[in-house]
Amino acid sequence: MTSPRPTAAYFDQWYADMAVSPARDAIVARTLGLPAELEVAGTLPWDGIAAMTAALHPAPGATLVDLACGRGGYGIEIARRTGAHLIGVDFSEVAVRAATALSARRLPGNRAEFRVGTLAASGLPDGTADALMCVDAVQFAEPPLAAMAEFHRLLTPGGRLALTCWEAVDPGDDRVPARIREVGLRRDLPQAGFTDVQVHDMPDWRAAEKTMWQEALAADGTDPAVRSLQEEGRSSLAAFDSLRRVFATAVAG
Ligand SMILES: C[S@@+](CC[C@H](N)C(=O)[O-])C[C@H]1O[C@@H](n2cnc3c(N)ncnc32)[C@H](O)[C@@H]1O
Repeated sequence: MTSPRPTAAYFDQWYADMAVSPARDAIVARTLGLPAELEVAGTLPWDGIAAMTAALHPAPGATLVDLACGRGGYGIEIARRTGAHLIGVDFSEVAVRAATALSARRLPGNRAEFRVGTLAASGLPDGTADALMCVDAVQFAEPPLAAMAEFHRLLTPGGRLALTCWEAVDPGDDRVPARIREVGLRRDLPQAGFTDVQVHDMPDWRAAEKTMWQEALAADGTDPAVRSLQEEGRSSLAAFDSLRRVFATAVAG
């Protein structure tokens, strides 16, 4: 049995709150070492973007899909570095609008498009992607394997996948959110049709995340986006050592 997931309406409100909270984005950017204008919702630090870019290395003009892209910051940065054409998909219409606006500022030349779709049903045709990324979101698919099957459907044969997430140190540990306990990348990526699956532990990324939660909790919680970051921080720190930060790469077989 799978656990209930937050809805698109929940995320619409989450992103609407972020849109009016420079304080939230400043805490995230400072602690993860990101440019303030990147507008991310995940917790990937600056050197994580380099790791994802190296793993995906789309050729100039190749299509990079960012699934569950949020406001688009990470995918836009990788498209800037590589010259790829970016397609971002998220089920939050508010996020998709924000991503469209961000790409107009950070990625001129019509090199990005964003659309509403889900992790398991993106609405894009088979074989759209030469490379596909998913940052801190695969756990929201119910089950995560459904998203991995969609990643595989979207990639051309030989196309590269890079994703970041968390896994439970002990999947039986009920301090870990149920949706994270359902993530098993070494088990599910091959089942979805991927080969060359590599799952790396990323303790430095986890440490950056810890600093982010600690700084969020020390901040004045004056707006809903900062308060939401604080709530997430409290629950993340309470079970901190029960989760591993993971970075997975794979090839569509
Ligand atoms: C933690 S945020 C990460 C966003 C983005 N990847 C980033 O790192 O900035 C998780 C994202 O997953 C999206 N999401 C959650 N469930 C989804 C689903 N079933 N289909 C599509 N998007 C989903 C949310 O709207 C949100 O944008």
